Amino acid sequence: MVTALVLIVVADGVFVVGSLLSWHMNGSAPHPSIDSPSIIRVENLTVGYGGTPMLQDVSFEVQRGEVLVILGGSGSGKSTLLKHVIGLYPPIAGHVYIEGEDLVAAEGATRLAILRKFGVMYQSGALFGSMTLLENVRLPLEMFTSLSDEAVDLVARTKLDLVQLSGAENLMPAELSGGMRKRGAIARAMALDPAILFLDEPSAGLDPIMSAEVDQLVLRLSRSLGVTFVVVTHELASIFTIAGRVIMLDKRSKGIVAQGDPRELRDHSSDEWVRRFLNREPEPA
Ligand SMILES: Nc1ncnc2c1ncn2[C@@H]1O[C@H](COP(=O)(O)OP(=O)(O)O)[C@@H](O)[C@H]1O
Ligand SMILES: [Mg+2]
Repeated sequence: MVTALVLIVVADGVFVVGSLLSWHMNGSAPHPSIDSPSIIRVENLTVGYGGTPMLQDVSFEVQRGEVLVILGGSGSGKSTLLKHVIGLYPPIAGHVYIEGEDLVAAEGATRLAILRKFGVMYQSGALFGSMTLLENVRLPLEMFTSLSDEAVDLVARTKLDLVQLSGAENLMPAELSGGMRKRGAIARAMALDPAILFLDEPSAGLDPIMSAEVDQLVLRLSRSLGVTFVVVTHELASIFTIAGRVIMLDKRSKGIVAQGDPRELRDHSSDEWVRRFLNREPEPA
């Protein structure tokens, strides 16, 4: 069995992928079902920088195979929450359980084993410009597995096929459309078969057609492979397309102001700000 972890710092973003490459060794499913009710459980998490809480006492769960969308105004702490949930920063208080294991308390090999379970795509964590698309997807496999060159190629091409980029293997990132680049970055984040993908603003900078492509990819991976997604976005069309459930962060209350089905919240939330946000209505003058 081959295990792998990759942590590559790209500009101001960070790209973490990891997983257990067991499927190609023994043919078993990439994400064996574990009898844990929630794949992610965030418990009383208080996060911020320099000890000053930005979000306090935040708790939520993500079910296996679910697409959870994190919403909130600019600067409400969406990225901050995400970075703490993935263990990039230690929280001020609280716990994050991934498949029942506490990422906050874990150290050493235990921690690495937890990090292996997810992939992350940051807005800025784009493809490496000096490498072809195929080389980009091969990279985590080359760095963190002992697969043969042929096997690396096969896995990388399979991932590109999964995001419908077969045929574009030898193109450079600059030769791809924005939507293709995002899909390529998702293929790379999936190289090691993570059970969970965290995407921070995957549609940023994309036109509506490209954004729709990324939405469709998220839905397809979620439905066909059972990948669990936690996605930060404020694009309403995406929210209503992909989100099974949303949690909405609010700067003033430093916490979750609403959660549930986005259509239900849009039409019936008791919180006026929540209804305005989801209906794209301006504040009254
Ligand atoms: N590394 C950091 N150190 C200190 N403050 C930060 C850091 N990253 C973000 N912030 C601040 O935290 C606030 C929330 O940022 P962020 O989580 O990126 O919001 P969002 O993703 O919801 O737009 C902002 O005021 C931002 O300036
Ligand atoms: Mg952000």
